[in-house]
Amino acid sequence: MTEVWNERFPFSPFPVGWFQVGYSHELAVGESRPVQAFNKHMVLYRGQSGKPYLLDAYCPHLGAHLGHGGTVEGESIRCPFHAWRYDCTGVCDEVPYASRIPANARIKPWLILERNGIIMVHHDPTGAAPTHEPPVLPEYQNPEWTEYRTRTYRIKTHNMEMAENSVDAPHFKFLHKTMTATCTDARIDGHVFRTHCDVKVDLSRWGMGDDSMDGSIDVETHGFGFSVVRLHLAAEVITIATVTPVDGEWVDARFAFAVKKFEDPAMTEFIGNQVVDDIQKQVEEDQRIWENKIFIDKPILCDGDGPIGLYRKWARQFLPVYRGDSSQAA
Ligand code: FES
Ligand SMILES: [Fe+2]
Repeated sequence: MTEVWNERFPFSPFPVGWFQVGYSHELAVGESRPVQAFNKHMVLYRGQSGKPYLLDAYCPHLGAHLGHGGTVEGESIRCPFHAWRYDCTGVCDEVPYASRIPANARIKPWLILERNGIIMVHHDPTGAAPTHEPPVLPEYQNPEWTEYRTRTYRIKTHNMEMAENSVDAPHFKFLHKTMTATCTDARIDGHVFRTHCDVKVDLSRWGMGDDSMDGSIDVETHGFGFSVVRLHLAAEVITIATVTPVDGEWVDARFAFAVKKFEDPAMTEFIGNQVVDDIQKQVEEDQRIWENKIFIDKPILCDGDGPIGLYRKWARQFLPVYRGDSSQAA
């Protein structure tokens, strides 16, 4: 397939890393569904053992898409068109009306991992193996925390812009009008970018009176595809934000929220609703910016900005193809 390029950005739309292709709860045993990522079409299915698999979508026989009507048998998937069957490594293991299976009847399998209730695929345009995995989150399936509430958005932007949002401290006040954030720590920890921000939140945004409240936010960004935001305020809230490049122009942004339970379930429910509504509002506010802005390779920053320069330095490791300014490509 020819290389896809988006003229809005001086780097490839498809970074290296782990990217979400679905939530665990969306894929029951024996189910299959279509997925699009990195400008490729794929089929995601869950075998009878409970393990998920991801293969390229198109059957090499006559081109049917296995994610539209493919049926799962054991750990294999059968094409809906003429019933050729492929095992979980993509090798055709049965053609019901042939005496010999063509040797090249095989489909590319993708490396995936299911963790924290999220199914993720590894992407590296060179085919290199992953150098890290997404972390195990202690809040997931923890009885002290609620289950996820999830929201998904398709946005015309790049992973680079979305991940930069969390280090862009002043925009929380001026765009979202929700809080004043001061980043007191930001550091590169290999493939992880960590920030700690002190925040002053306007509680009216959450329908909790006119006061403001002090708290903090810790963000760990594990590559471009997976970040974890922990908000410490009147409530403890975790947001797992994932961004998957779809086709070079659009990304799928998914948010899963959980709240540390209060003794009063009604309070837990209330906080959960407020947080989801608030993030939804923020995404809509950000979306309008993201879809219409340009990417400035060498922005003019001031001393009140967050650690955007450090973030971009960290980000470079996931963008091996950077055709912008040659002085920055080293
Ligand atoms: S196209 Fe899949 S079996 Fe024919
Ligand atoms: Fe934002």
